[in-house]
Amino acid sequence: MKNINSILILLLFLFFSCNPGPDHQNRGLVATHGMVVSAHPEASYIGRQILEKGGNAVDAAVATDFALAVCYPSAGNIGGGGFMVIRLKDGKTATLDFREKAPLLAYEKMFQDSSGKIIPGLSINSDLATGVPGAVAGMLAALKKYGTLPLEKVIQPAIDMAEKGFPVTRKQADDFNRLKETFVRVNRFVPAFVKNGQWKVGDTLVQKDLAATLRQIRDNGRAGFYQGEVAEKLADQMKYDGGLITLEDLANYKPVWREAVTGTYKDYKVISMPPPSSGGVALIQLLNMVEPWPVKKWGWNTSRTVHLMVAAEKRVYADRAEFLGDPDYVDIPVKQLIDKGYCKKRMKNFSLGRAIPSDSISHGNPPGYESEETTHFSIVDARGNAVAVTTTLNRSYGNKVVVKGAGFLLNNEMDDFSSKPGYPNSFGLIGGKANAIQPGKRMLSSMTPTILEKNGHLFMVVGSPGGSTIITSVFQAILNVVEHNMTMQQAVDAGRFHHQWKPDVIFYEKSALDSLTINELKKKGYEFHLRKSIGRVDAVLVFPDNRLEGGADHRGDDTADGY
Ligand code: GLY
Repeated sequence: MKNINSILILLLFLFFSCNPGPDHQNRGLVATHGMVVSAHPEASYIGRQILEKGGNAVDAAVATDFALAVCYPSAGNIGGGGFMVIRLKDGKTATLDFREKAPLLAYEKMFQDSSGKIIPGLSINSDLATGVPGAVAGMLAALKKYGTLPLEKVIQPAIDMAEKGFPVTRKQADDFNRLKETFVRVNRFVPAFVKNGQWKVGDTLVQKDLAATLRQIRDNGRAGFYQGEVAEKLADQMKYDGGLITLEDLANYKPVWREAVTGTYKDYKVISMPPPSSGGVALIQLLNMVEPWPVKKWGWNTSRTVHLMVAAEKRVYADRAEFLGDPDYVDIPVKQLIDKGYCKKRMKNFSLGRAIPSDSISHGNPPGYESEETTHFSIVDARGNAVAVTTTLNRSYGNKVVVKGAGFLLNNEMDDFSSKPGYPNSFGLIGGKANAIQPGKRMLSSMTPTILEKNGHLFMVVGSPGGSTIITSVFQAILNVVEHNMTMQQAVDAGRFHHQWKPDVIFYEKSALDSLTINELKKKGYEFHLRKSIGRVDAVLVFPDNRLEGGADHRGDDTADGY
């Protein structure tokens, strides 16, 4: 009997120590070894399996990224691009820019008519909208430099999933039904997302052409996408639909390793993506601007806290519009913009009284000088390596065009350029000369894959989709944990608001602000616009004992998977 009791106790102990399971404090999944949080359960599962089989966080990131290209076609991609931020277990950091580039035939006024008027929709709904894809080159470069497993191992699960299919979620079934007419209209063949009759949750999406393209990549590496059969299919698609990408553009594409942009917020070090994403610079500016104020004391989303955060957002987005672009083409005063003194000066005229209208706020003078879609995933492995990846086709399913015979969707990232100074892009973002179209240039992004350290230890891996709202979503997720003591899960689920300087409006989710707060802020001169959802943050929090909490945003099918 004593023996049986001991065995039972041992079994219970093993169960609770090996089975992560959500705990009882509104936490997300808690795991002891590794964690993957992504926009789709199949992709998180594939990433976690790679971790469990001994792969590191970069191996898992590459596997997750290729998996998302199959099971999350609205934003996961091989026809788009993105950014990766890495923090290795020894604290060394790296960032990889695999952002799309303007084709060599692109030119500044390509989305304007002969009288200089913007041609509505051209930068979104055409093959001209497509930038040279960077995703495949990016994943292969990351794997080569930091991975431990061969490409065949990390890409095979995605190939199998494309070949055999996977069950679509309710949201995906709804998407495919809603977009059926568009997919049929913009494609010269019937893509896999279109079926006779209506999609239902659990139906299987099989993508044979995509599987063949992924096999080309598996067998030929970079050349399997940027040269040969797949490249020719992409170039043919461009010729057929008036796009600009040529075989030369594809052969020339190279991702770039860049030094991370870093800043501090109290005891935390912020490691994020430098230009051509505006995300890291803007996030550090925002944190610098609110740091001197008693945000914790004021409380979560009280009128004072929102007033302060929005004041910072107005100033930061005004700077973004003026100064940020592709650092290979324009000089960007990054150091000056993220300088704490500069940020303090920018907030000098902030008071707890009325709001300063956006028209009275312009960019500063630093000394010396995406329905929106994108997807983010966060990974930590058993050794303590961390990877944050945000990747995109720009809008949901890009321009909805599938490359015939190759099965992947084209991005419409060219809309992230400033098509004309002062003219808003599809996210309402305004830009100037720094982000004007030039051949071979990368369009400015808001993607903000970010890693936080606390007192030198890995603390959080975080990021979000959401076009212009990415930066403010990441900003809020960080403050929710650091200032408002939320768990990672609470922090990603909490209601969000957003201001981007212009338009001069606070966008908000219903759960973000109560009517009292809204009324108080209206008295200060603010206008409001209710939105169904803002951002979708997927993040990992590292506890002091090194256990990991996954925060998977409830707004989507986002899932944390760990062991
Ligand atoms: N396409 C959205 C972004 O890069 O910000």
